[in-house]
Amino acid sequence: METKKAVVLSGVRPTGDLHLGNYFGAILNYVKMQNDYDCYFMVADLHSLTTHPDTSGLKNHIQRVIATFLAAGIDPEKATLYCQSHLRTTGELYLYLNMLAYKGELEKTATFKEKARQQPDNVNAGLLTYPVLMAADILIHKAHFVPVGKDQEQHIEMARNFAKRFNHRYGEVFPEPEAFNYSHDLLKIPSLDGSGKMSKSVNENATIYLSDNDDTIRKKIMKAKTDAGPQQPNSPMPDYVENIFHLMELVSENSTVSQFRQSYNDCSIRYGDMKKQLAEDMIRFISPIRKKMEDILADEVLLKKVMEHGAAKANEHADQTLAEVRKAMRLNYFI
Ligand code: ADP
Ligand code: TRP
Repeated sequence: METKKAVVLSGVRPTGDLHLGNYFGAILNYVKMQNDYDCYFMVADLHSLTTHPDTSGLKNHIQRVIATFLAAGIDPEKATLYCQSHLRTTGELYLYLNMLAYKGELEKTATFKEKARQQPDNVNAGLLTYPVLMAADILIHKAHFVPVGKDQEQHIEMARNFAKRFNHRYGEVFPEPEAFNYSHDLLKIPSLDGSGKMSKSVNENATIYLSDNDDTIRKKIMKAKTDAGPQQPNSPMPDYVENIFHLMELVSENSTVSQFRQSYNDCSIRYGDMKKQLAEDMIRFISPIRKKMEDILADEVLLKKVMEHGAAKANEHADQTLAEVRKAMRLNYFI
């Protein structure tokens, strides 16, 4: 008998084009995991409504995320790709989980506090219960592993807590999901200006998108913050220089990185040369993905087919979980 593979679920919000942080924090893991696990990857359009209520560009953004998934190497025959709002069962599970989530813990969530600060005029209940919807996304597939970047770690811990509370109250239904990255530590790809992480819709000039053309990549990298260089051998490295090395480690040869580290330590480093090298290596890495993405985006029929196929598979799987949930909760009175 074939042993059942562990289940993986993850999602990306369609709030803009995907960037290097999304790629290394999440998508690269998706591509590797699709061979070993039963994978579900979705576009979290409902989550994006908590911060981006204007839906006029949503269809296009969803298509761009799916096209990026495919261009990065996700195979829709191996992994199930779908759009969050195509699964109605998630909404029902979200409702049940809301009764197990406490106002106090939701208010303490770091992302809630940050978003409430960013949009004081729109601190909606969806923002408060964002981690509950995320838990519903994960638990509706009974996922074991959730590949995400460091910024999502707290949300996964909350999903574990909601799963435990459900199991404790109604009986064992859910596995306790765990955040996952192949490199063991969850990643946080820094922005080019040294302030925080690369992010889809904040500070576009300090974020490298997978859709950026060669010139844009060059310009952004050449503008990254540096200084006059170290004055003493083996000086401690300022954060913004460490960030440039960090990006270089992602896309350049090991020997290139060590050569620049060496020149930093002996104070001979020229940041201009380092950034030029990084820009060329970045372009070599990004341009094939961008070109594939453009081809896929031109094929609306393919995109539609992938999403329909994914929605059917995801719904079938989620329906089974919801039936178990209702049974465990004794909500199936007349059947
Ligand atoms: P963003 O924060 O740019 O809007 P999302 O919130 O949709 O992106 O995140 C999608 C995935 O990419 C999540 O798993 C998230 O943890 C990961 N991610 C986003 N930004 C980064 C980053 N700078 N470094 C590492 N992972 C990231
Ligand atoms: N909140 C995640 C983010 O901003 C996106 C997301 C929604 C997600 N549902 C999920 C990620 C379920 C993992 C699992 O990045």
